[in-house]
Amino acid sequence: MSQRKLYIETYGCQMNVADSHLICGHLEGQGYVRTDTPEDADVILVNTCAVREHAEQRVWGRLSDLARYKQRNPEIVLGVVGCMAQHWRDKVWERAPYVDLVVGPDAYRRLPDLLQSVHHSQRAHDVRLDRGETYADLAPAYDGKVTAFVSIMRGCDQFCTFCIVPYVRGRERSVPAEAVLGRVRELVARGVKEVTFLGQTVNAYRHGETTFADLLRQANEIRGLERIRFTSPHPVYLTEEVIAAMAECEKVMPALHLPLQSASDAVLKRMNRQYTLAEYDRLVHQLRTAIPDLALTTDILVGFPGEREEDFQATYAYLEKTRYDAAFMFKYSPRPGTRAYKWGDPIPEEEKIRRLEAIIELQERVSAEINAQAVGSTVEVLVEGQAKRGPGWYGRSPQFKNVVFTAQRAVRPGELVRVKIADSTAHTLKGALAGGKEQ
Ligand code: SAH
Ligand code: SF4
Ligand code: F3S
Repeated sequence: MSQRKLYIETYGCQMNVADSHLICGHLEGQGYVRTDTPEDADVILVNTCAVREHAEQRVWGRLSDLARYKQRNPEIVLGVVGCMAQHWRDKVWERAPYVDLVVGPDAYRRLPDLLQSVHHSQRAHDVRLDRGETYADLAPAYDGKVTAFVSIMRGCDQFCTFCIVPYVRGRERSVPAEAVLGRVRELVARGVKEVTFLGQTVNAYRHGETTFADLLRQANEIRGLERIRFTSPHPVYLTEEVIAAMAECEKVMPALHLPLQSASDAVLKRMNRQYTLAEYDRLVHQLRTAIPDLALTTDILVGFPGEREEDFQATYAYLEKTRYDAAFMFKYSPRPGTRAYKWGDPIPEEEKIRRLEAIIELQERVSAEINAQAVGSTVEVLVEGQAKRGPGWYGRSPQFKNVVFTAQRAVRPGELVRVKIADSTAHTLKGALAGGKEQ
């Protein structure tokens, strides 16, 4: 049999991106080859996200587009994998009868067998969650970049009342430290300079005696690795031990994404976030004291059931006071199956949009102001490749800012260079390769 060609399209968070690499690596090990276009694929997989209704709608739309390829060639297998597969299970077929395969996040190990069992007009699905599955032994495909994601834990036990993740990703479990560190060393040997540890509550990591702080310290010792990042930490697991490890490990970058969701204690309580604003704010102070050049980013959710104007104003005021470098801001989307779902969606859409737009406008201004302060300074940039738009190069600063820059000499991906910043926007720093070091 000739080799089957696999095309995979990924939606959702970084964990899904990492899972798509895992799926590719696993299927390549079984003789599949990857293709970048659905046109010439034998197997089309869509790795999906269920976190908001909008994310799901995009996928339903995309699936009906992809079904066209099956009309031309019924032998093509169209599969839905990931969080929506887990969320909708066999109901996927009610909305998208042309789908052949439905596979949840804990069943990827069985994908080769499931694909074998899918014949023309015979469907397969596997949405069993598995408390022990970490895929520690499966090698993800490597995409040739100088940065890489490494999943260190899976699942979530927090059960924030708005969130579907614990239902579609199952219980929290950590990858053995030796497997994580082994994976990082392998990546470094292939040219990776920066790893990002992933998990929905990444700092809840614990395997045997090894805590998240231990893991950071051990990764910091890996020769040839230049930078370590992680996302997303949960405030309740952000211990002093973790903050100390961040401050002391020179490879752990000074950037932290610390989701707040709301600055109203009443709302935080109904969200089941397990911290008060005062506790969160104490963490912010501890972090900024321990790591003075820290860039802090967050997630905010507005329009949660019962969010009063004063609750929203508290969030607005806290964003204004705290001056995050950036924020991902969302309006509440009810998710069937979550605890908050039964509270309905009482805040009118126009009001949710008004609140969302107000904080976006505020945050854009603050982000632009913070980035403008970098103008005139020199930052260290890990070169990732050529700039997407216009001439020049692209990379990230230690604070995880996008940096585009021009260079008089050839630079290469993976190089650490110094860039003198001449201009900025809310989302990007712009400059030119600095003299100095390389002269
Ligand atoms: N594990 C991370 C968040 C993962 S989901 C954490 O706890 O911080 C990413 C973000 O999506 C969340 O931080 C939240 O702001 C948003 N989100 C989750 N469920 C949502 C929903 N039902 N409606 C709108 N936004 C949601
Ligand atoms: Fe969802 Fe809360 Fe878990 Fe984050 S911590 S994934 S918001 S349940
Ligand atoms: Fe979405 Fe699943 Fe990630 S629901 S946010 S892709 S864990």
